[in-house]
Amino acid sequence: MTHNILLIEDELSMRLGVSHSLIASNYDVTSCEDGNEGLAMLSRQNFDLIITDLRLPGLNGMEILSKAREICPETGVIIITGYPEINTAVSAIKKGAFDYLSKPFSNEALLIVVDRYFRYRELQLENDQLRETVRGKSESEHFIGDSSAMKAVFDRLATIAPTDVPVRIQGESGTGKELVASALHNLSQRKDKVYLKINCAAIPENLLESELFGHEKGAFTGAVQAKKGKFEVADGGTIFFDEIGELPLSLQAKLLRVLEEHEITRLGSHKSIKVDVRTIFATAKDLKKAIEERTFREDLFYRINVVPIRLPPLRERGEDISTLAEHFLKIYSAKYGKEGVDISPDAYKSLLAYDYPGNVRELKNAIERAILLSTGSHIHVTHLPSECRKIAEDLPCITEDMPLSEGVMCYERQRILKAIEETKGRKIEAAAKLGISRKVLWKKLKDLDIEC
Ligand SMILES: Nc1ncnc2c1ncn2[C@@H]1O[C@H](COP(=O)(O)OP(=O)(O)OP(=O)(O)O)[C@@H](O)[C@H]1O
Ligand SMILES: [Mg+2]
Repeated sequence: MTHNILLIEDELSMRLGVSHSLIASNYDVTSCEDGNEGLAMLSRQNFDLIITDLRLPGLNGMEILSKAREICPETGVIIITGYPEINTAVSAIKKGAFDYLSKPFSNEALLIVVDRYFRYRELQLENDQLRETVRGKSESEHFIGDSSAMKAVFDRLATIAPTDVPVRIQGESGTGKELVASALHNLSQRKDKVYLKINCAAIPENLLESELFGHEKGAFTGAVQAKKGKFEVADGGTIFFDEIGELPLSLQAKLLRVLEEHEITRLGSHKSIKVDVRTIFATAKDLKKAIEERTFREDLFYRINVVPIRLPPLRERGEDISTLAEHFLKIYSAKYGKEGVDISPDAYKSLLAYDYPGNVRELKNAIERAILLSTGSHIHVTHLPSECRKIAEDLPCITEDMPLSEGVMCYERQRILKAIEETKGRKIEAAAKLGISRKVLWKKLKDLDIEC
């Protein structure tokens, strides 16, 4: 990539000499001889670096520096100075200039300072990107599934991950949309670049536009500094738009433009900036319906629907339940120092019979909770959440290999639930039916985690 440099220098021979050396080293150079003209150029175009003389007609170098800090804080400034102004140059560095060159200087000295600046910028950028990527990676986990439906998803993932096509992931809550999105990034050539996630439903509409596209200083009240948007930060990487169905209509049009033209415009600016970002979208909402209801643009839908991936709900892929349960069992038993704990046959039966409206997330949470509650070497029905247990209540839950205390709990639970059902939730009558006091019943309801 060629870096572009703005050179502001009123002395003709110096201007020609510096720009000639920079062009010979493959930099793009725009030059002018007046401070005001330089400032006008800065507001029209993005530069990677400004090299400015201190003494200039119009605005002087120090004024250019402070304006540049406001308009484009990411652009570096190198000051050219004569010997008498060396103290001013030092204070320029204190105010954020990268370095200064004192006249006369050789071509070599010029190129060393400019190269050093671009190396420093590159490192800074790599650092920013690394931080974002590490954050994204720590969230990615193993992706499990034995069912034919999930195998088809894995195949599709492997085929499309290395391409740059937009992907739309459709699935109920907890089916693993986020895992698919991070797998797409990690399996692509962009894997060492930034991976950013934006939850379109979580950011207020008035902030979303500047989050995505960035803003210039003063673009709106509170915009005290210019700021890069997510598209600029993720340049070269991937952005995952979660809950795309919630993106306000006004921004849908702007997003469509980015997808088609690969360029963005910061809020409060007229300059276009090229961006190279792979986009992934997820939704639990039926977008076709949203189009009918006119809350989602049809043209955007077709643009993001190049490759759809549907994640089936867990109840449609029962074969995955036991594989996933074993996987989470391994993770959480290690996490809580309970290695070797297994799932009893009855608990398995309830896990397999349940329909998981919260999908894989619900199963994962159920196993974590069961591990925490288990006291022996097995997870029993009593350790499962009440929704799962409701199914188990119809199943004989007491088994020979169960510790006595577990068996007693199981029996008590069945009797109490029955009494409560027969008395239509009237606890005093239920307690009488069971031959225990009201206080004892309350305690047992609490201990057995029965909600009624
Ligand atoms: N196939 C899978 N293998 C392993 N873990 C999974 C799988 N699918 C989902 N999970 C786990 O289940 C949880 C929910 O997954 P994820 O956050 O990706 O769901 P989602 O579809 O994005 O849900 P939501 O719509 O609520 O945001 C995560 O902790 C994820 O690690
Ligand atoms: Mg999600």
